[in-house]
Amino acid sequence: MSAPELDGLVAIVTGGASGIGAAVAMELRDRGASVAVLDLDPSTAPEGTLAVQADVASDDSVRAAIASVVSSLDRIDIVVNNAGIGAKGTVEDNSDAEWQRVFDVNVFGVVRTTRAALPYLRLSPSPAIVNVSSIAATAGLPERALYSATKGAVHALTLAMAADHVREGIRINSVNPGTVETHFVTLLLEKAEDPVAERAAVTARQPHGRLVSPEEVAHAVAYLASPLAGSTTGTSLAVDGGMAGLRTRPAARE
Ligand SMILES: NC(=O)c1ccc[n+]([C@@H]2O[C@H](COP(=O)([O-])OP(=O)(O)OC[C@H]3O[C@@H](n4cnc5c(N)ncnc54)[C@H](O)[C@@H]3O)[C@@H](O)[C@H]2O)c1
Repeated sequence: MSAPELDGLVAIVTGGASGIGAAVAMELRDRGASVAVLDLDPSTAPEGTLAVQADVASDDSVRAAIASVVSSLDRIDIVVNNAGIGAKGTVEDNSDAEWQRVFDVNVFGVVRTTRAALPYLRLSPSPAIVNVSSIAATAGLPERALYSATKGAVHALTLAMAADHVREGIRINSVNPGTVETHFVTLLLEKAEDPVAERAAVTARQPHGRLVSPEEVAHAVAYLASPLAGSTTGTSLAVDGGMAGLRTRPAARE
């Protein structure tokens, strides 16, 4: 039998204790990687992963977490920048403090984690970074001004970092999920005036007619993280039921 695809590699997943990040951590673990979960609350990190407390909004916290991963697992080959928080509203609705808070996690968190991990990625035979962006980076969605701005920044940052590090052999890609069935989405739906109607609306806007599962996003991340994707860098992979690219006709009435 051949060795599992990610055998011998060490991956870190920020925000890996819940939702998409937890699904990614389990997928990478099941493909043979040793996985460290860096999370504000790592108590629910998936079984068989190294749980490390970390706040991606703090440079000291991220650096301490990376040092602790290397001291336990010796190396870092794969970084999945997944930790992120939501925000609702038009450009008029959020305070400056809220804009700073969401950028601090969703964008600067990617910068801090990548910056701290790069010296170790340079030592890896197959280094890869996967950033979790969003459909909101490529399609205008109502009442997501702040959130979309952060994910657009992650999209641009992915391309710029991919260009900077391609000659070092470090591949950097992103995934753009549509609406995924997670805690994050449940919270947003609960805040809507009519949560049932809101759920029906977000489901209907995905051409395949349902929400995306965290496991589907995890498979896309694992593909981009794998040495098997050695020629793929600077791309963004949509996992959105066709939402970004398709223009379907409304379903026919009964
Ligand atoms: N759920 C969706 O529909 C959807 C769609 C597109 C993109 N995304 C993106 O996917 C990523 C994960 O979202 P999710 O839906 O799984 O969310 P989630 O709320 O279920 O999980 C997010 C995890 O990140 C952790 N986290 C939050 N702030 C952190 C910080 N400062 N430092 C460290 N960890 C922190 C949380 O503790 C939690 O475990 C986010 O970047 C989000 O923007 C989600």
